[in-house]
Amino acid sequence: MRTLLLGAQSQLGYDILRTWPEGAVTPLGHGDCDVTDLAAVRAAVAGARPQLVINLAAWHRVDDIERDPAEALRVNAHGAWCAATAAAEHGAAVMWISTDYVFRGLPGRPYRESDPADPVNVYGVTKAAGERLIALANPRHCVVRSSGLYGVAGASGKGGNFIETMLRLAREGKPLRVVGDQVLGPTATSDLAQALLALARAGAYGIAHLTNAGAISWHDFALLAFRLCGVRPALTAVTSAKYGAPAARPAYSVLENGLAREVGIPPLRPVEEALAAYLREKGHLSA
Ligand SMILES: NC(=O)c1ccc[n+]([C@@H]2O[C@H](COP(=O)([O-])OP(=O)(O)OC[C@H]3O[C@@H](n4cnc5c(N)ncnc54)[C@H](OP(=O)(O)O)[C@@H]3O)[C@@H](O)[C@H]2O)c1
Repeated sequence: MRTLLLGAQSQLGYDILRTWPEGAVTPLGHGDCDVTDLAAVRAAVAGARPQLVINLAAWHRVDDIERDPAEALRVNAHGAWCAATAAAEHGAAVMWISTDYVFRGLPGRPYRESDPADPVNVYGVTKAAGERLIALANPRHCVVRSSGLYGVAGASGKGGNFIETMLRLAREGKPLRVVGDQVLGPTATSDLAQALLALARAGAYGIAHLTNAGAISWHDFALLAFRLCGVRPALTAVTSAKYGAPAARPAYSVLENGLAREVGIPPLRPVEEALAAYLREKGHLSA
């Protein structure tokens, strides 16, 4: 499937490029194509003549966005619409990655794809807006919600990833405070990239949840990484209220991977296995 990949220099883009069949994907980074420039996206689509446009461009510094939403609205909503529109005009499908942060975090069960978006922070509002605009612009859309992404390339938009930050702080001997009351399904971008390929091959449209299997708090996720690496920093679980981040986060945003199951995609492996594989690849664990 001829695929145009926008926002290709993201950590997820790195894994798509090494997972998807060689030669099938035309990657364009931010410098090659700004997704908020409709003319530029149209030119990119005309050049690549794709059957599928994947848009990974994002502005997702959650706390900064709470104070200054303009850039996030531009990239996550307007940019999402531009890519979906240019794809539709060319007769191509569009795939875009959304987030568990479109949910408030209250249900006491994993969120289903059919649950209404009800974000608790401004970043979630910009992504929920992107979801709606894409659906209006292109009937052949696949909006994939995932959460807590980490990959070997590190999130360029966030300056690394949670696991590397934790391990660095532990090495520096700093006492660590990590929230223990936000539970999610953190997901390895290598696993997500493979599942996206399966979803694209299945021709699945609509909203799909794709996360590694399981549910874990950020505190327990850090603890798991430390255990696997054999390090024992001073780690304390704190409440979100005590941590005091500018943006609120959902307390429970585990996603049920319903559409993937319906179209026969096997569940992504458990959080623990994915993390161990990541740590091995990064050289934090001996084989
Ligand atoms: N990271 C997470 O925890 C997480 C969780 C759930 C969903 N997601 C979603 O998953 C997707 C991939 O995330 P990621 O962590 O792999 O992202 P990432 O590594 O932070 O990369 C984001 C990319 O978007 C590019 N970009 C920003 N503005 C752009 C624009 N106007 N035009 C074109 N490119 C632009 C950035 O380029 P520059 O750096 O050059 O600006 C960067 O390469 C995003 O849609 C994100 O919202 C992420």
